[in-house]
Amino acid sequence: MKPIIAPSLLSADFGNLERDVRMLNESQADWMHLDIMDGMFVPNISFGIPVVKAVRKISEKPLDVHLMIMQPERYIHTFKQAGADLLTVHWEACTHLHRTITQIKEEGMLAGVAINPHTPVAGLEDIINDVNLVLIMSVNPGFGGQKFIPRSLHKIEELAEMIKRNNSEALIEVDGGVCRDNVTSIINAGADAVVAGNAVFGSSDPAAEIIALKEL
Ligand code: DX5
Ligand code: ZN
Repeated sequence: MKPIIAPSLLSADFGNLERDVRMLNESQADWMHLDIMDGMFVPNISFGIPVVKAVRKISEKPLDVHLMIMQPERYIHTFKQAGADLLTVHWEACTHLHRTITQIKEEGMLAGVAINPHTPVAGLEDIINDVNLVLIMSVNPGFGGQKFIPRSLHKIEELAEMIKRNNSEALIEVDGGVCRDNVTSIINAGADAVVAGNAVFGSSDPAAEIIALKEL
């Protein structure tokens, strides 16, 4: 099975966002990944709800919204209205993760949970049958263009085993430092979907790069 490719708009040219979204529409990309940062959960601020709404108007692909914000439960309905199809919250940012996941699904979105590089996969055991997706952060969240943390491969394998053991249907998405050189080992470890920011938008031919990631 070919992997799901979710280019991250964090690395797009914000002065030409419509052009870049239309390029993704025409490309082999499966989802559009939107990174929301609040300057608290992560040391960076990216973009917010009006930008998600603007992308929704142009995008012909599902919007995969990754919330790197504290207490994301405050904004579930808002992101649904803005056009999110898949809403991922951080394990580390939720006191009542099960309730938050339930609310995301009740809003009619797919629900994802993300874990930072230091967060053990084992902590997901009691939520794995409730989520549609687990996002393994393979860099410390906050910035595009960072180097893939090799330990992440072991976490993907461990998560794949947990999903199998629990008969869960959760997808595994990997985010951070994904490129041509490591995508094969990431997929072989058990990932279903990969996010790629710098690899796609830093390329002179982003559409060709997406094909390269999908075909490797
Ligand atoms: C990092 C974000 C990523 C980022 C990935 O905090 O969650 O989605 O855009 O960018 P690359 O692929 O450049 O590491
Ligand atoms: Zn992301």
